[in-house]
Formats: sequence, structure tokens, C-alpha cells
Amino acid sequence: MTAAPSPFLIVAIDGGAASGKSSSSRIISERFNLLHVDTGSFYRALTAGMLRAGASPTDLPTVQAALAALRLGTRVTGRSAEMEIDGRPVGDDIRSRAVNDHVSHFAAIPELRAALLAYQRGQADVARAHGFRGLVMEGRDIGSVIFPDADFRFFLHADPAERARRRANEGQHDSIVERDRLDSSRKTAPLACPVGAISIDTTHVTLPQVVEQMATAIATKLAAP
Ligand code: DC
Repeated sequence: MTAAPSPFLIVAIDGGAASGKSSSSRIISERFNLLHVDTGSFYRALTAGMLRAGASPTDLPTVQAALAALRLGTRVTGRSAEMEIDGRPVGDDIRSRAVNDHVSHFAAIPELRAALLAYQRGQADVARAHGFRGLVMEGRDIGSVIFPDADFRFFLHADPAERARRRANEGQHDSIVERDRLDSSRKTAPLACPVGAISIDTTHVTLPQVVEQMATAIATKLAAP
């Protein structure tokens, strides 16, 4: 008798800026052989594309025209999925101040979110095609909208002062409180802890402790008969 193939795993990690999503999801991707998908980088890449095309978040036709002209692809580098626009990988400018300042405004546009929906769900096919056991996807609406039936859903949060300190340590200028306000108050897919998700306060705990909490929850469920 052959063993049943192990199921494809989907881990959703949501939370505000600098809540610890990226660091923890990278480690979880290594531990469980999952493709790491940072959807914030997708919104950032589209924002950079919008700005290059001269689109404005307050002028929907310019956004729609720019969206229609972009061809989105995915490149897997190591364990991470990276967006390609018109066949080219996105560069470091997705972390620029201009993108930091505009990304929440573009991300609040339902048409832009809709354009990314199938692309994000399609990352499961990318993970399968590259031989991963599943994927870990981080963002704001992964456990609520993109993969509401994910095997594991985590929501990370931390005091704003601590999050600002983390960003400053990375040498970044990022108005995280303002982005959180915009991301939480938008009508479409706002940042919120999805019902049933495991909520983790990362303010006073170390990264290894956060990862351990997640990994234990995953391993325990995987080991259950
Ligand atoms: O994770 P990040 O800070 O790099 O995300 C940048 C912005 O992208 C964030 O302010 C809101 C938006 N975003 C979103 O609306 N939905 C997601 N799933 C991921 C990011």
C-alpha cells in the first residue's frame, strides 16, 4: 500500500506594518518547505508601476488604464515568490519613500485589489509547480479574503511605538500608524483579525518565540491522526 500524498498546506499570516509577518513567515517557509509569498510586495510593485505610469489613486480611469497595460508574472527566487511586471522583476524601489507614501491609497481601490485576487490565489499553483509542500502567504486580508479556508491563519499585532522602532532599525522611513489607519478603515478587505485566526501580540516577545508558537500549532495539527 502506498502512503497517501501529504496535503498541500496553506498558512495565512496577516497583520499591520512591522508586526513581524515577514521575518516569521520566512522562517516558517523554511521549516515546513513552503513557498513564501509577501503580498505587501505585490501591492508595492503595483504601486511603483502605477506611479511610473502616471496613475493617481484619486483618478480611477488612470488606474484602470495602467492596470490593463501591465502584464504580471511570478519568478521564484530561493523560497520566495517575486512579482514580475512586463517580464522584469520589480526592483528595490518598492521600498522607496514614494511607494511607502502611496501604497495604502492604491491598495484601497477595489479594482486594483480585484486585479490581484486571482494572481494571489494562483501562487498555490506556482508553489506546486516548484515542488513546495504548500505556501505561507503574508498580508492584510489573506485569512479573510484570499484564503479564508487556509489550514492555518495567524494574526500578528504589536504596539505602534515598538513597530516604529523596528522600522527605524531597518533604516526605513515609514509612516506605519498612518498606513495602518488607512488599511484598517478602507471599505474593501480592511486589515482586521479574521474570526477564528490565532492572534499573537509580538510587542514583548522575541521572533523565535513567535515562530515557535506558530510552528507548534502547525506541527500539532499535522501530527493529529
Ligand atoms: O506588508 P507591507 O507593509 O509591505 O504592505 C504594503 C501595503 O500594501 C500595506 O500598507 C497595505 C497593502 N496591502 C494590502 O492592502 N493587502 C495585503 N494583503 C498586503 C498589503
